[in-house]
Amino acid sequence: MHAWLCTTPTGVDQLQWTQLPTPTPGPGQVLLEVKAASLNFPDLLIVQNKYQMKPELPFVPGSEYAGVVQAVGEGVSHLSVGQRVACLSGTGGFGTHTLAPAALCMPLPDGFSFVDAAAFIMTYATSHHALIDRGQLRAGETVLVLGAAGGVGTAAIQIAKAAGARVIAAASTDEKCALCKAQGADATINYSQGDLRAAIKQATDGKGPDVVYDPVGGDFAEPAFRSIAWRGRYLIVGFAAGPIPALPLNLPLLKGASLVGVFWGEFSRREPKANAAMMQELAQWYGQGKIKPVIDRTMPMAELHAAYTRMGSRQVQGKLVMVNEQ
Ligand SMILES: NC(=O)c1ccc[n+]([C@@H]2O[C@H](COP(=O)([O-])OP(=O)(O)OC[C@H]3O[C@@H](n4cnc5c(N)ncnc54)[C@H](OP(=O)(O)O)[C@@H]3O)[C@@H](O)[C@H]2O)c1
Repeated sequence: MHAWLCTTPTGVDQLQWTQLPTPTPGPGQVLLEVKAASLNFPDLLIVQNKYQMKPELPFVPGSEYAGVVQAVGEGVSHLSVGQRVACLSGTGGFGTHTLAPAALCMPLPDGFSFVDAAAFIMTYATSHHALIDRGQLRAGETVLVLGAAGGVGTAAIQIAKAAGARVIAAASTDEKCALCKAQGADATINYSQGDLRAAIKQATDGKGPDVVYDPVGGDFAEPAFRSIAWRGRYLIVGFAAGPIPALPLNLPLLKGASLVGVFWGEFSRREPKANAAMMQELAQWYGQGKIKPVIDRTMPMAELHAAYTRMGSRQVQGKLVMVNEQ
């Protein structure tokens, strides 16, 4: 097998395409032939030692992937050789094969492509948990999605629409705004032009959004929070822009509004039954055509360096997926 090996977590340039012995699965593991692996934001951070999880060296990055079971380890009864699965295990996906924890593998129904499956779990689980569980979004409410053309952003647009909400999508270019419209957004705001507060006011007839979904942070957080409706819920999802914003605490008081933290990974560990029920609902929605990952492009696994550059320079719209040649 081959994989992108990280021996020194000082950046993408250090990753080496390396030949490794094909491993045998241990108890609770399966050996997968990786068909597709997507890039998530933590994949950028983990190879720079900037992510909260710091894997033992050397490691193979690639948080989320889909493939075919080649061998099963002791104690694995719910998966069999030849089965198609998706997995989000944090590392291991950027290679031809990987050892996956069987408990984290989601069997794929017929018709669920490897590319869509590799781009599914992280973004849809995060956005569903954020909007429906943490945000208590109701039909007829208005949601403002920041970074709306990104991975979690596009999933948030689709889930909010499936829940019957009105969606205002905010992104940094007209091209990204057009993509959000095509995903069902009712209105868009290009936040690299003009005053964000004025644009939100105009898009909500002065009322403000009931829910703000924020995976970006930085300079947009305060104006977005100042625009929120009475009893609004501000979902803190991530800080893709870098700086972690701070807010004066009089703002939630004045709006009777809530700041709501979202940490899907911890939710899935602490509340596995609720997470499993949510994943089942998401798989059903996929089967019914209510949601479908937006694939920016697929790239050969050998081009991982270029893929990282594309993601790091804010060019990706939706999800970037690496594929192994047949
Ligand atoms: N809380 C959780 O449970 C959870 C789960 C998954 C992900 N996350 C977090 O959510 C965030 C987004 O993840 P993602 O996978 O959707 O990433 P992504 O696809 O790269 O999207 C991030 C978006 O942020 C915007 N952005 C603004 N400034 C940026 C900058 N300096 N660099 C890169 N992007 C910038 C970009 O949109 P514009 O160009 O339109 O501004 C981009 O589309 C990350 O911080 C990630 O860690 C949190």
